[in-house]
Amino acid sequence: PGEYDLVVVANRLPVDLTAAEDGSVSWKRSPGGLVTALAPVMEGADGAWVGWSGKADVEHDPFDASGIRCVPVTLTSDDVEQYYEGFSNDTLWPLYHDVIEAPSYHRQWWDAYRRVNHRFARAAAAAAAHGALVWVHDYQLQLVPAMLRTLRPDLRIGFFDHIPFPSLEIFSQLPWRTQIIEGLLGADVIGFQRAGDAANFLRVARRLTGHTVRSRVITVPGRSQRGAGDAKPATDRLAHVQAFPISIDSARFDALARRPEVQERAREIRNELGNPKVVMLGVDRLDYTKGIRHRIKAYGELLADGRIDVNDATLVQVASPSRENVDAYQQLREDVEGLVGRINGDYGEIGHSAINYMHHSYPPEEMAALYLAADVLLVTSLRDGMNLVAKEYVAARSDEKGVLVLSEFTGAADELGKGALLCNPHDIDGLKEILMRAAQMEPREMRRRMRRLRRVVMEHDVAAWARSFLNTLEAVPEPGSAAA
Ligand code: G6P
Repeated sequence: PGEYDLVVVANRLPVDLTAAEDGSVSWKRSPGGLVTALAPVMEGADGAWVGWSGKADVEHDPFDASGIRCVPVTLTSDDVEQYYEGFSNDTLWPLYHDVIEAPSYHRQWWDAYRRVNHRFARAAAAAAAHGALVWVHDYQLQLVPAMLRTLRPDLRIGFFDHIPFPSLEIFSQLPWRTQIIEGLLGADVIGFQRAGDAANFLRVARRLTGHTVRSRVITVPGRSQRGAGDAKPATDRLAHVQAFPISIDSARFDALARRPEVQERAREIRNELGNPKVVMLGVDRLDYTKGIRHRIKAYGELLADGRIDVNDATLVQVASPSRENVDAYQQLREDVEGLVGRINGDYGEIGHSAINYMHHSYPPEEMAALYLAADVLLVTSLRDGMNLVAKEYVAARSDEKGVLVLSEFTGAADELGKGALLCNPHDIDGLKEILMRAAQMEPREMRRRMRRLRRVVMEHDVAAWARSFLNTLEAVPEPGSAAA
């Protein structure tokens, strides 16, 4: 066994390896919701984080980065192509997001997924102390729980799925559906964002394995039952399935947005935009699940209808580059940029573009200033596990101003549905009405709604989320104990 009592296993390390032009390399905080969520939990804890550096063919010894012990797992360029870009992001990602884009099924990608999952499982097994808690994350690593249990039966293993879990009808497309479910059932606690995701998983697991499911607990028959001539009695295990909606480091975002220099920057941004009456903002990874085209279309039609003009209302869209080697993402970039160019060409004026489009990401200070500068935040995902941008916006608005427009197809809508203006992004006419309503909202209603949102986001932060998951995992009897 290794020496760490808590081991996080995720596709990405909390830091990415980046190469400068002079050839020197350095580690930089990774993008994405998962890292944002877990970094504050791990900082200071005596734990290790097993993950990939973000670059192909890099071999690196374990190291410390802002208080976290990082254990790098090497991916070859074939692994990146077949396991990461292929099976994870061109098979599972579209499948789990309700086939917004068609998933590709390739047997070679599946082989790579198994091979890489096994590598992660071995690295976790080597890092974990006897009886340690191991917390495996997300759709890239669904086989790790069962692989790890075989290697290390002494561990308590948790799994958390950060993205939606699809219905039985959609999941059943997957040629390797049973193997994926068996992989996940290696965990003692299987967590999802929403109650609906947990319900989908329970239905799928019951149907594909035939195991007994009672309320939210699945009985997984012990291995010795299967092995012929095995003298040991079969010990059944229990897998607990539950929703644990993830959150952000709310206090940190709140404090960041209260800084005088951030507030000054927010005023500056509005000036630079030409002081329009209403600033609308979208912040997303450039991903087809986010409904970026839908929101731009609705905004463009409002301009075309003459219901708004570029002096009244401007749209700022931050789209951070993501998965740029995957075809669907390249196509999306072309579509979005074509649409932005057309709308700016038709309606922009000197000093007043209709859409300010940025294809890069910004540091947290600039994001906080953008949130403060925005009267309306647009989250129009077609499907989204949670959507942490919605929560960041709310945490930044201690001034109790701003309107959150939120797609009903996000996990966040379960918690924030009362204070937000909910929308169906497929309904462009409906979306246009909601944009108008948001742009014209009276300060009193705005304040009432934002207070409601802040009560949820400030109380339920990422620390509470992690505590709740880890407490549930710790409550599982230790393997081999009398209670187990
Ligand atoms: C989502 C996923 C994460 C992933 C992130 C960024 O939030 O749930 O697992 O890390 O997107 O995507 P990337 O492919 O760059 O890791």
